[in-house]
Amino acid sequence: MTRPPRTLVTAALPYANGDLHLGHLAGAYLPADIYVRTLRLLGRDVLFICGTDEYGVPITKTAEALGVPYKEFVDRNHASIRGSFVALGIAFDNFSQTSRPIHAETSRAFFLDLHGRGLLKQKTTDQFFCATCARFLADRYVEGTCPRCGKPGARGDQCEKCGTALNQVELVEPRCATCGHSPETRATRHWFLPLGDWQPRLQAWLAGKTHWKENVLNYCRGWFEQGLDDRAVTRDLPWGVPVPLPDHDGKVLYVWFDAPIGYISATREWAAEQGAPEAWRTWWQGADTRLIHFIGKDNIVFHAIMFPAMLMAHSEPYVLPENVPANEFLNLEGNKLSTSRGYAVWLPDYLAKFPADALRYALARNLPEARDTDFSWEGFQARNNNELGNNFGNLINRVFAFAHKYFDGRVPSWSESAMTQVDRAAIGEVAACLDRFTECVQTFDFKDAVEAMFQAGKAGNRYFDESAPFRTRKDDPVRCAQSLGVAFQIVRLLTLMLAPVTPFAAAKVWAWLGMESDLFRGGCVEGKRPLPAGRPVGKAEILFPRIEDEQIAPEVQRLRELGAG
Ligand code: MF3
Ligand code: ZN
Repeated sequence: MTRPPRTLVTAALPYANGDLHLGHLAGAYLPADIYVRTLRLLGRDVLFICGTDEYGVPITKTAEALGVPYKEFVDRNHASIRGSFVALGIAFDNFSQTSRPIHAETSRAFFLDLHGRGLLKQKTTDQFFCATCARFLADRYVEGTCPRCGKPGARGDQCEKCGTALNQVELVEPRCATCGHSPETRATRHWFLPLGDWQPRLQAWLAGKTHWKENVLNYCRGWFEQGLDDRAVTRDLPWGVPVPLPDHDGKVLYVWFDAPIGYISATREWAAEQGAPEAWRTWWQGADTRLIHFIGKDNIVFHAIMFPAMLMAHSEPYVLPENVPANEFLNLEGNKLSTSRGYAVWLPDYLAKFPADALRYALARNLPEARDTDFSWEGFQARNNNELGNNFGNLINRVFAFAHKYFDGRVPSWSESAMTQVDRAAIGEVAACLDRFTECVQTFDFKDAVEAMFQAGKAGNRYFDESAPFRTRKDDPVRCAQSLGVAFQIVRLLTLMLAPVTPFAAAKVWAWLGMESDLFRGGCVEGKRPLPAGRPVGKAEILFPRIEDEQIAPEVQRLRELGAG
């Protein structure tokens, strides 16, 4: 298979409605970042795009409840989310906001392209209107009793209790969620994307995606079996991208219409910052771009059906996603996450207490790739101490320490021609792990990739124990130098595997090894060349500090008190 030159990677735009938690990280951002860093290591041309999704009813409701202006509210959350991503080493090329002017402009133009060619249809429907608040009650602005399960507290778009998607006018005893008054019904006109018209083309296109993850294809099959419906692309709301047509006062684009366009506007913004405003087209409209959307499973329909239909419908030749590697959900200490009950681990809280690499590694080893997985603090501690510390950290530390103790802080005298069978086998095994690592990442099998990395660490430790430079030092100094030299080669290869998963530690080791190139710009080229004898190396510090029982006990306690949902 020949590899096209360009990979455009997106990660679901998180809502600017509060901080992110471990579930978000495991669902989309961590696998996306590992993927991007691996491609960068290999020297591929890759662009990593994200930003905050800043419209929609949950956001306006929270801002209103806090009495904070919408823009101020989303800016605040954007800054906090951005800070967590930076601290976690999620290395976007651009992290934008959908409330920026470039996004409004891009979404307006997109809407008008479809509208101008008659691809949107207008329908008049009944909507609740609150006379007291003087506004239409879109989505969750209206609450009532669920017509299916009879439980109160159902919202205009969905009943949380039974999970049914609702049409708000079905609600029994509807009330305005803001003031509590019962609303009246009023007719309102909205624009719809008739997805049914696109179903044959979508199905034909998806039929070629046999390499997609089974969970994603299953969701799509389910949607096709039900038959695709018209999807509203506008809403009566005070906050959003105004509908760019006359006589549409108070109407904005529906958040699920504008948000995915956010990937395009964030790319345009990036291009403008590069001083090449038209460069975004190469990424979105170049036939040899591979577009990859990393998302959680609740976003599948939007990325595998709705957004592709929008891209197909546009008059310009947009690329369609090459893959949508969606993950399942991460549970926490055996229970489902619940943000409303605070049953989650928020990224800023985590980062205030523990290192980024430890979380990246523990989650990468346990990603909900094919089914939901569970995060436990004890498991996290064990991954950090037993695997990061005792496997990788131990090997790296022993090799550098030995060089400083007995070889003047240099790669000792070794050579490829002097390699024994054992030397060759050890390097060969680690190199094979590296190949497996990069292959698995490229097929989105991240857990298998991390397993290969783990095996490489074990092979390295085994080699060090068996060739025992600490024992040959006196009787056979030549052999001692040779085996430490080989161990350095193993560390060099191992660093390439650590890089996408634990980038902070890897960058340190890279520097200690005296590497000159940028690890994340084709680092594999230098990383695959032998380290020459005599090269001075840095002093290793502790890479992966131990995590003690006392550190995790309060975390476990807090979640226990919140209890099962
Ligand atoms: N904000 C949405 C969520 O968190 C994801 C939006 S992805 C986009 O579920 F494609 F629409 F941008
Ligand atoms: Zn009201």
